[in-house]
Parts: sequence; C-alpha cells; structure tokens
Amino acid sequence: MFEKINSLLAEISSFSAKGNEELELFRLKFLSKKGLIPELFEEFRNIPGADKKEIGQKLNILKQAAQEKYNILKTGIHTADYSFSAEDLTRPAFPWMLGSRHPISIIRNEIIDIFTRIGFTVSEGPEIEDDNHVFTKLNFAPEHPARDMQDTFYISKISPEDSNPGDILLRTHTSSVQVRVMENQKPPIRTISPGRVFRNEAISARAHCIFHQVEGLYIDENVSFADLRQTLFYYAREMFGKDTKIRLRPSYFPFTEPSAEMDISCSICGGKGCNVCKFTGWLEVLGCGMVHPAVLEASNIDSHKYTGFAFGMGIERPAMLKYQVNDLRLYFENDIRFLEQFRTAF
Ligand code: DAH
Repeated sequence: MFEKINSLLAEISSFSAKGNEELELFRLKFLSKKGLIPELFEEFRNIPGADKKEIGQKLNILKQAAQEKYNILKTGIHTADYSFSAEDLTRPAFPWMLGSRHPISIIRNEIIDIFTRIGFTVSEGPEIEDDNHVFTKLNFAPEHPARDMQDTFYISKISPEDSNPGDILLRTHTSSVQVRVMENQKPPIRTISPGRVFRNEAISARAHCIFHQVEGLYIDENVSFADLRQTLFYYAREMFGKDTKIRLRPSYFPFTEPSAEMDISCSICGGKGCNVCKFTGWLEVLGCGMVHPAVLEASNIDSHKYTGFAFGMGIERPAMLKYQVNDLRLYFENDIRFLEQFRTAF
C-alpha cells in the first residue's frame, strides 16, 4: 500500500491540467466518492494494527495533496481562460514604490498655502523672457550690472554691447511675473509667483545656476509699508514658528522705493547665536519694498491712485533651514536616496 500511495503522490505532484475537462477527470480519478483516494481509505480499514498509524498519516498526506492540487489548478485554469498570458491574477500585486515630493516642492507648496490663506492668488510667467519684463519695465538702468552677460544667460542678444528690450534671456528673478500681471490685470492685485530662475554662477555648495524664487505683489489704493511689514511678519511666523521675530534693514532694488531686506531671528538657535547665523542671531530671507511709481507707470497703472508692495524670496534658503541640508547641489541631483527622505502630507 505504501508503494501505491507513493506512486499516486508522484502522479499528483507532476499533474497539470490544460483545461476544465482534464481537471474534472483528475477530480473524478482521485477525489470523487468512487475515486482512488476514498477507495484507499476503504482498504485502510483492513490494514493490520502495526502499520495502521503510519499508513493512515500517509493517506492523509495524499488526500491533502490531491485536494490542494485541485484547488490550485482550479484558480489557475480560471485565469488561463483569458487570452492574455497573465499567469495568476489572484497573486498579490507587485509592491509599488511610493514616491515622495521634492523638498523644494514641499516648501513652495507651504509658501503658497500661507499666502493663499490671506487672499493671494498664484500666477506664473515664462522662464524664457525678454529684457523688457526682466529689467527695463522694472526700472533697471541700461547699464545695470545684473544685465551683464556674466550674470544673465542670454538666448539671443540683439546688440552685443547694449541692452535692448527685445533681448531674449532666461529670467534672473521672478519679479518679471510682476510686470506680466500688472500688464494684464487691474488693481486690486494680490498675487504670488513661484518659479525657477537662472543666473550665470559657478556651481558650488552655496550657489547654483538654477534656483527657485517666490515673488509677491500687492497693489491697491492706500497700500502702505505697514501692510508690507505685517504681511511679512505673518509669513515669517507661519513658516518658521510663532516665536519668530523679523527685522527690516534698508536696502536698494531698482523696482522698489523704499526698499528693505528682511531678516528673521535664527530658526536654529532662536536668536542666541550659532554657526548657521554666524553668531548674529539673524538670517536674511528676502528682499522687499514699495513698488516704484515708475514700475507702476511702465505697466499703465496710475501711480497717483495706486500704491503697492512687492517682495521676493528664494525657496532654497527656507528649505536649507528647515531640513538642515547645507549643500545646494543635493537639491538638483535628484538622487533617490536623498529624495526618499522627504515623505510628508504636502
Ligand atoms: N528680485 C529680487 C532678487 O532676485 C528679489 C526682490 C527684492 C523682489 C525686492 C522684490 C522686491 O519684489 O521688492 O534678488
């Protein structure tokens, strides 16, 4: 009886069915009431006591093997009926890797979220721009050093010597979107413009030829410097924590008057002094000011009726502060080992 069981086991394990008919024959042969296995169980009753235990175990194994084979083939054949060659649709799916957002996108979304909560819209403009929108209409003097080939990537320069409003270039700041918005909308205007900007810099841990900025613009009647200050204070506290202090230092930009730069109390040491803030307790985060009347007029906005403020900030800087990643190049290499570490809800 042992040999018989063993040979049936071998037959079962090598069996495969091409269709439902063959599988039904298998069931009839082995498992049905009149099949070989119930027959063997019948025979088993007459086995002498000494061998009974061992043969009983073996028979159970055989019965189980036949039943399992039948079950497996039944599901397999079910899928094999389809014309494509998926082998077993009941198998668990391949484990997909879940993606994560780029740290720059996370910070950009956070900035957008902070400003849209107080009524700012989001606007975008082209990365390939003309001199008019990047410089001239923003009140840059013809000889301003930012127009220099060493700072600006020109795509086509009409006159190699002089700046020309028709020169085509990669925008060096998102302030160009201010101009496009002013050209196309009437005040009140309240918008932020996130985007990529390009400058002709040697790549190092602290500088890159591509980086990201968010521009802000608010134009209406009676907009004052106090509105600017309070808006930026709100931003700083939302972005860097509610105990953040700000300070505004006088500065110069051609497109704002007066102009200022904003520092926040160091988010690493809380203002006590550390090597991130170079022991000053303060970190520079953005430039801002009241929109220069010449800039309003260049886009046909009546500077006697309307005033406005503008600000511009880099996105890499808050990302570096938030994530303590101090080499800019990591943000541009897209190494999965780096990116995987930024799984968040944003
Ligand atoms: N465009 C400036 C830059 O790239 C940043 C800036 C400063 C934008 C002052 C502004 C502003 O709107 O008012 O450095």
